[in-house]
Amino acid sequence: MTNREMEGMVETSDEWIVQRTGIRQRYIAGDGETTASLGADAARAALANAGLSPDDIDVIICATSTPDNTFPATAVDIQNRLGMVHGFAFDMQAVCSGFVYALTTADLYIRGGMAKRVLVIGAETFSRILDWTDRTTCVLFGDGAGAVVLEAAEGEGTVADRGVLTCQLRSDGSHKEKLYVDGGPSSTGTVGHLRMEGREVFKHAVGMITDVIEQAFDATALTAEDVDWLVPHQANKRIIDGSARKLGIPSEKVVMTVDQHGNTSAASIPLALATAAGDGRLKKGDMVLLEAMGGGFTWGAILLRW
Ligand code: ACO
Repeated sequence: MTNREMEGMVETSDEWIVQRTGIRQRYIAGDGETTASLGADAARAALANAGLSPDDIDVIICATSTPDNTFPATAVDIQNRLGMVHGFAFDMQAVCSGFVYALTTADLYIRGGMAKRVLVIGAETFSRILDWTDRTTCVLFGDGAGAVVLEAAEGEGTVADRGVLTCQLRSDGSHKEKLYVDGGPSSTGTVGHLRMEGREVFKHAVGMITDVIEQAFDATALTAEDVDWLVPHQANKRIIDGSARKLGIPSEKVVMTVDQHGNTSAASIPLALATAAGDGRLKKGDMVLLEAMGGGFTWGAILLRW
C-alpha cells in the first residue's frame, strides 16, 4: 500500500509521511494471510537458504505482538505448518524489540547446550490492530515476517569467530502509556488498537538506542569503527539517522528498508537482514550491529559476526 493510497483513507499526504518518517509504502496482509502464515513462509525461506529441513530444528521462537490467537502460541502453529512434531516452540513478546529478545534467547539456548539449531522468526500483522481512522499511527506500520537459523558451532562467542558476540536488553514499564494497545484478554476482553504519543516516543528513542549500543560496545571492547553494518529496527528514518549520527556510523553502513516496508515491529530486523543478505551487502565475517526499541518501553542491541 503506497502513501498515495493512504491519502484516500485519512487526511495525510505522501510528502508528510516521507518527510517525517521516510516511509513510501508498506505491505498489508491479504485475506487468509495471518501472522502464522507469514511466519511459516519466512521460516521455509530461511530453512531453504540454510539448506536445512524442519527435522534439523530443535526450537522455534516467534517474536510477535500480533499472534493469530491469544493462545496457543503462533510459534506452535508455525511448528505445525512446518510438519514438525519434535522439539518445542514458543512466542516472545517485546513489541518492536521482539526479534532482539528472541535472538538473545536463542543464543542462550545454544550456549546452554539445550539446542543445536534454533529457528528465530519475527512475524507481525500490525494492520489488524491499527485504528485506520487515526492518521497519526496508521501511516506508520506494515505487515511482514522474516526468519534466521542459529546453529551451534565450536569456538563460538569470541570476537574472532562468527556468531552472536553480545546481547544487551533493557525494559522500563513506566513508559507504557506512550505506546500501547488499548485492549487485551485480561483488561477489556477485546483485541484493541495501537495508541501512541509519537513525539514522546521519538524524544526517548535515540538516547535509549545509543545507550544500549554503547553497552554492547563496552561488553566486547569493539567500537563503532568495527561495525560493517548497522541493521536497525525500521521504525522511522529520522530515528535511524539520528542514532547512526550520534554513534558515528556513516549512512553507507546502515541498512534502511523502512521506505519499502514501513514499521513491521518484530519483523523489521529479519526483513532488513534478508534484504541486505539477498543483495550481497552482508558478507561472511562482517560485523553486524542490530538494535531495536519499542513499546514498554523495551530496547536492546546485539553485536554479531555474520
Ligand atoms: N499526515 C498529516 N499530518 C499529520 C499526520 C499524518 N499522517 N499525523 C500527524 N499529523 C499532524 C499532526 O496532527 C500535527 O498537526 P498540528 O500541528 O496541526 O497539531 C502535525 O502533523 C505534527 O504532528 P507531530 O505528532 O508533532 O509530528 P512529528 O513531527 O512528531 O511526527 C511522528 C510524528 C512521525 C509519529 C514522529 O513523532 C515519530 O516518528 N515518532 C516516533 C514514533 C515511532 O516511530 N513509533 C514506532 C513505534 S516505536 C518504535 O518502533 C521505535
